[in-house]
Amino acid sequence: MKGEMLGRGRTAEIFAWGEGKAIKIFHSDVPLGVIELEFSKSRAINRAGIPSAYVFEIIQVEGKPAIICERIVGETALQRFVSSPGTMLSCVKAGAELHARIHKYQVMELPPFAPELEKAIRTAPVPVAMREAAMRAFRRLPDGNSVCHGDFHADNVIFADRGAIALDWSSCARGNPYADVAFTALSFQLSRVPPGTKNSPVIEIGREAARVAYLEGYYKLDRRARNQVEGWMLPLAVAFTNDDVRVDTHRAFDLIRLLMIRERVEQKVRSTLARSRLLLGVRP
Ligand SMILES: Nc1ncnc2c1ncn2[C@@H]1O[C@H](COP(=O)(O)OP(=O)(O)O)[C@@H](O)[C@H]1O
Ligand SMILES: [Mg+2]
Repeated sequence: MKGEMLGRGRTAEIFAWGEGKAIKIFHSDVPLGVIELEFSKSRAINRAGIPSAYVFEIIQVEGKPAIICERIVGETALQRFVSSPGTMLSCVKAGAELHARIHKYQVMELPPFAPELEKAIRTAPVPVAMREAAMRAFRRLPDGNSVCHGDFHADNVIFADRGAIALDWSSCARGNPYADVAFTALSFQLSRVPPGTKNSPVIEIGREAARVAYLEGYYKLDRRARNQVEGWMLPLAVAFTNDDVRVDTHRAFDLIRLLMIRERVEQKVRSTLARSRLLLGVRP
């Protein structure tokens, strides 16, 4: 029996369902293949022992496909820091810890992340120069085999009795974990405020504080990350422009311009260093 509504996302509404379960009822425009893929990816994540809601089956309810899953009792990170802003830093830190923990896993049956990102860059509605700069940066970056959540943001993290849990594994893939970190940092920076919320300097400061605290929280747990994550920002910021519902594209364009200037400066530094080494006969 369908009970109270537990939450609403972009693809579905989630309700309580019987004893200890929840039902994710998808909007009618979501293709069945997409739902089946979310189900099989979630299954693989459950099997690997990653903190996640257990999924049971796909059924039809009210003429729509739905996933029956474990009900997680608790507040999402977003709900918690909206209801008590003073908890924001500790929520973000717990989120960064969960994210770093997820990245320690490898689940080889997940699809690779890199081809998806490449496609998103190729189809991004931005000037050619931006697409090309993003593609050049992307091609220089190393691939990886870590579990990447692919949509790790404050509404997809829930604090349960058994600890922090990541929801919504529809976009998960295997790839370089630092791309997944850059995704989350950019979500703080580029997402539109939820409908009905008025943007204000307080919200802006809060978002920036959350972004920095998330990154610093993650860097504390993985010291190599600090030098790696930045490189993913340009390719991902360009990929983000495909989603103009969730992403504030004006902000994204401003950021992309800045990142391109930085890329050019870094390129110059790299080639000057390489030339000097050659002239001095120093091995790189
Ligand atoms: N298993 C669950 N138990 C409790 N609440 C959930 C569960 N799954 C989702 N929710 C709630 O529903 C919201 C949307 O779910 P989500 O799976 O992220 O949907 P979408 O894929 O549409 O974004 C979450 O932010 C959370 O508040
Ligand atoms: Mg979601």
